[in-house]
Amino acid sequence: MNFKTVFPSQLNGKLTVPGDKSVSQRIAMLAALAQGTSSIQGFLTGEDALSTLKAVCALGASHCFDGDRLKITGTGGKLKKPANALDMGNSGTGTRLLAGLLAGRPMTVTLTGDASLSRRPMGRIAAPLQQMGAKIELTGEKGTLPMTIRGGQLKGFRYELPMASAQVKSCVLLAGLFAEGKTTVVEPRPTRDHTEKLFQALEIPVEVNGLEISVPGFGENGPEFDARDMTVPGDFSSAAFWIAAAAARPGAALTVRGVGLNPRRTALLDVLRRMGAQIETELTEEQGDPIGNILVRGAQLSGTEIGGDEIPNLIDELPVISAIAALAKGDTVIRDAAELRVKESDRIAMMAMHLRAFGVEVTERPDGMTVSGPAKLTAPQEALESDGDHRIAMSAAVLATFCDGPVTINNTACVDTSYPGFWNHLEQLGETVC
Ligand code: S3P
Repeated sequence: MNFKTVFPSQLNGKLTVPGDKSVSQRIAMLAALAQGTSSIQGFLTGEDALSTLKAVCALGASHCFDGDRLKITGTGGKLKKPANALDMGNSGTGTRLLAGLLAGRPMTVTLTGDASLSRRPMGRIAAPLQQMGAKIELTGEKGTLPMTIRGGQLKGFRYELPMASAQVKSCVLLAGLFAEGKTTVVEPRPTRDHTEKLFQALEIPVEVNGLEISVPGFGENGPEFDARDMTVPGDFSSAAFWIAAAAARPGAALTVRGVGLNPRRTALLDVLRRMGAQIETELTEEQGDPIGNILVRGAQLSGTEIGGDEIPNLIDELPVISAIAALAKGDTVIRDAAELRVKESDRIAMMAMHLRAFGVEVTERPDGMTVSGPAKLTAPQEALESDGDHRIAMSAAVLATFCDGPVTINNTACVDTSYPGFWNHLEQLGETVC
């Protein structure tokens, strides 16, 4: 049964969300390069992270779960040719970062993915990797997967990213580690910096100078570094569904514990505060990426404008922001977010369609939308479709919690890519789901 029906009620309580998807996948790749065994607390067991873990094991690493710790034994930089093509499932992060890791290894590897990943643009990573000297073939119809990487000697270079993308930045930095000479990536706007932070934690040299990030090249075998014990914080982007839902409901009180509070991820909190929500954070861990608890009290929100440098730091939260914007007084305007159109689905089109199905007034633009509120949400006549996009399915569920009757969402299995346990948490917080 690949659908869920959500009934309206209050959302209150305390919960802990699963491990961060971006951090888990980066750790899987770096632990696979390390010398020795890394022990990892809080690794996400969602499908995206498991696809990446499976891929690095096909490349010569090995892993086992020991209680709630994941142990990964690395290859000391000597990734081996996998027996088959690597199926990356739904994971854009896994695919794009792994392509960087493989570009400098003298072997041929093919990456494939599910229907949604096979629609996503890969030219954005093929172009810089080709400039470095790798041979990348995209055999999909429109510069898309399957991708065959014929790795070889890479040359370090300076790359000005054409779009604000942490995936492309990380891909080039990972390739740069296996190149001859220095690689510098210049970002148009600051994006999530988990790759740089993990390099620092593992003592892989990296230089951060404003929007310029550089790594020295170590040649074909990459850098030598030892395995470490690491902790994955709770995923802010998963916590975001509950934070936003509680913030927009006067009287609601919610605490999410143990969440990653890297400032390049938490712009949602600034936006919600601007809209009138009461949000406090309590830091529990300050070393490396900060971790803490987020306490939310709901209020009647007001509309706001979101654009510019804020966008990359809340890119994955925009679907749920557009959902709760329907409850805010006045217009909420989202600009500079054209990247949303090439996520797991066209998230601007999908959210505009869903909001309209609930009776909300929305104006769609190429790089964003305006949502007018406050709206009285009425249950759509027909089931909503997720288009296989986890964040669209979860945002639709949040909308359903504010509605006047039960709402059915189809194709909800995709939620497991980032948030296994989402529907149980929804019930735990007071919603009826069946
Ligand atoms: C991610 C970066 C973002 C984000 C994605 C995860 C990452 O994508 O939307 O969910 O882990 O680096 P882009 O880099 O394409 O913006």
